[in-house]
Amino acid sequence: MSRILFASSEAHPLIKTGGLADVSGSLPPVLRALGDEVRLVLPAYRTVLQRLPVLPIVAELVLPGSATPVRILEGTLPHTGVPIWLVDAPAFFDRDGGPYLGPDGHDWPDNAARFALFCRAVVELAQDRAGLHWRPDVVHCNDWQTGLIPALLAQEPARPGTVFTIHNMAYQGLFPYSTFTALGLPAGLWHWQALEFHGQFNFLKGGLVFADWITTVSPTYAQEIRRAEFAYGLEGVLNHRADRLRGILNGIDYSAWDPAHDPLIPYHYSAVKPGGKKKNKAALQHQFALPADPHAPLLGLVGRMVEQKGIDLVLAVLPELMQQGVQVAVVGTGASHYEQAFRALADRHPDQAGVFIGYDEGYAHLVEAGADIFLMPSRFEPCGLNQLYSLRYGTVPVVRRTGGLADTVVHTDAVTLADGTATGFVFDHATPDALRQAIAQALALYRQPQAWRQVMQSGMRRDFSWEQSARQYQELYRQTC
Ligand code: ADP
Ligand code: GLC
Repeated sequence: MSRILFASSEAHPLIKTGGLADVSGSLPPVLRALGDEVRLVLPAYRTVLQRLPVLPIVAELVLPGSATPVRILEGTLPHTGVPIWLVDAPAFFDRDGGPYLGPDGHDWPDNAARFALFCRAVVELAQDRAGLHWRPDVVHCNDWQTGLIPALLAQEPARPGTVFTIHNMAYQGLFPYSTFTALGLPAGLWHWQALEFHGQFNFLKGGLVFADWITTVSPTYAQEIRRAEFAYGLEGVLNHRADRLRGILNGIDYSAWDPAHDPLIPYHYSAVKPGGKKKNKAALQHQFALPADPHAPLLGLVGRMVEQKGIDLVLAVLPELMQQGVQVAVVGTGASHYEQAFRALADRHPDQAGVFIGYDEGYAHLVEAGADIFLMPSRFEPCGLNQLYSLRYGTVPVVRRTGGLADTVVHTDAVTLADGTATGFVFDHATPDALRQAIAQALALYRQPQAWRQVMQSGMRRDFSWEQSARQYQELYRQTC
């Protein structure tokens, strides 16, 4: 079996802004259970240090970009036994605010320096130059924050294999040329076949050009990103490397996301014993100050409020849906114009719209458990985890046919109802009309309790656990080292 160094900028339950954390917190333990020796490496953000006991310093590294030596702390990912190394550089990571944004909601101005330092530390660990006597066979990198790792390792005469996973092409880590020079990166990397991208410095491109294998988180997104519409200028590189590009669907962690034993929801239930779902609906209505009406269809939405998620489409159709007597429960944070629009909706319709602007794990689980229908009309969606959670929680998803949404939700029509495969509603065009129609179809089915129960239960029985996908990663690791 292989030794894997898994590098990520977030991992649940230590630090999370989105699905990358879910993946980095759940794939390594499964790989470990399947026999690989996995170590996770993360930046030592203030929040991460606060969530762990005081950890021993196991190494000190002198790295370009840091005035003081960078310390490596060693611990374990809670509840998993997976060893973690934290790259402790207080000037870069020990601050209030998020991993990428400051408290003012803007990118940290020194993000390039922060993640370049992280990448350099990972390279030292990967090359066993930190004195830790452990050499990985493969370094598995994730998203732009780790993009310099394959590029820097490629400069070494001998190195481990590299796998680079794209969780989102929309975030590339773009900086000016002056940043590239200020970081003192090898001059040869300033090249159109390396890190240079239309005169700018592109972290993500480092992963795409130099990794031995590139993966992304669903088969459909692996195809989509070969087109300009989804790759924002990097489609050429991806087409050039198409023989090294794979789509491996994300799995989900059913120890955290299963209504049969989820500690964050008040009533447990399952496909076999679905009774608790109604009680969770009442609890959600209560929590969001909505009338306790068991018959009103309750639509749920949880997620980052950004353009990717089709939030504007939801905002366009909600006023009309309010006329039809639906309720909606929304949990999210992001662009302030979306946040304000949801707040305004809740002010206008306090009896129908419950809105929580912010990040709250418990609310996210309660919406999954209590809503009838889950809205995820994304413009693009590399994989998407919320629709997978919704399926398991019997909350019928309404999704756009893109990326992982297309790969995981089966549209309900006469044929799929008859053969028992229907699990949700899928629409094609990113327009309010198309979303409106899909929701209308969902509401029509909701009024037919028997058919509704069938669709809910088919979704709940689908298995999106990690094992199969983890085995596909293992197969790639074997072909890499
Ligand atoms: P993305 O990674 O693009 O944000 P995913 O669907 O893959 O989308 O994963 C989103 C993850 O983040 C899910 O676990 C979801 O529950 C969580 N999440 C997003 N926004 C919030 C929020 N405001 N509060 C709590 N959890 C959230
Ligand atoms: C990204 C994508 C999301 C995916 C997640 C985990 O943030 O937007 O679709 O599920 O990463 O891979």
